[in-house]
Amino acid sequence: MRKVGIIGVGEYLPERILNNADLEKLVDTSDEWITTRTGIKERHLVSKNEAASDLAIKAAKQALSSAKLKPQNLDLIVVATITPDMPFPSVACILQNVLSAKNAICFDISAACAGFVYAIVIAQQFIARGSCKNALIVGTEVLSSITDWEDRNTCVLFGDGAGAAVLSEVKTGGILSTYIGSDGAMADLLFMPGGGSRNPTTHKTIDNRLHYVKMRGNELFKLAVKSMTEAGHKALAKAGLSCKDVACFIPHQANIRILLAVAKRLGIDEKKIYINIAKYGNMSSASTATALCEAVKEGMIKKGDIVLLDAFGAGLVWGAVVIKW
Ligand code: COA
Repeated sequence: MRKVGIIGVGEYLPERILNNADLEKLVDTSDEWITTRTGIKERHLVSKNEAASDLAIKAAKQALSSAKLKPQNLDLIVVATITPDMPFPSVACILQNVLSAKNAICFDISAACAGFVYAIVIAQQFIARGSCKNALIVGTEVLSSITDWEDRNTCVLFGDGAGAAVLSEVKTGGILSTYIGSDGAMADLLFMPGGGSRNPTTHKTIDNRLHYVKMRGNELFKLAVKSMTEAGHKALAKAGLSCKDVACFIPHQANIRILLAVAKRLGIDEKKIYINIAKYGNMSSASTATALCEAVKEGMIKKGDIVLLDAFGAGLVWGAVVIKW
């Protein structure tokens, strides 16, 4: 099996910013409530004609440039998203066409907020077994398109953005271990009932607001802490490492209280957690992707460091990856 590592990262956040004061004008909420209960101060939102692939393209170009790789050298593109431009074709195929990455096989995956971690696991397997050499993975979301802006329980949480990474064979370090899990019995804690084959779009589904995220936040909170803690422990154990070895912890950014609770249970010092939730909110698959990118750009991750990525989302799905940078 070949060693696989991340050789480039990129991100893109749309320009428009919606802060907590703006939300106070939309629903019965307050900056104080949002800040103390979630850690979020503002989020980026797309403008009128921007879709998930537009964000993905910009993040992907940055990742390719940081990897010093040309699009034609890609043989795999995996996009993790729950808000694709349209049900089909995949965002990955749209991306392939814009990049002229003619040699890549392309598909999307639906693993919600754990999508980027799942994409790492998939790309790693292709490269480790020798079926591919260079893979581009992207987490891109326009969650504002499925957010109910009249529901204060959810609309304060989400944002739009994209993060990308290029994976390739490496001589030293790279991905040391991965662990992913799923539990479909908990699907009704976080879902969007409308717009699929179960409830195809009709005037009635729209009137009933079925095309928006439905969430039972309180129950999810506890499961997120439990699952992410378990994933972190299992991935570290598989790598033969302990929490003390982790130089940078990149958790999914759903809620500051969740990520602090997970770090505490894992025994990881707060100073080692990369946190960008205040600026972006929860961007589902794009959260861990942009956090990884920014941690690298800001010098929080250096060569030889042990990095732990850890995520959880609708499905339910969760997973963690240990990387020696
Ligand atoms: N502004 C003000 N009050 C709000 C509010 C808002 N935006 N949203 C909810 N509230 C109210 C509720 O109505 C409730 O009022 P009540 O006690 O009168 O019924 C009160 O605040 C507490 O609600 P609760 O849901 O218990 O709050 P919480 O501390 O659990 O925080 C979440 C809510 C959503 C922030 C939190 O549960 C969470 O982050 N859950 C996980 C979400 C998640 O991870 N989702 C994605 C998975 S990746």
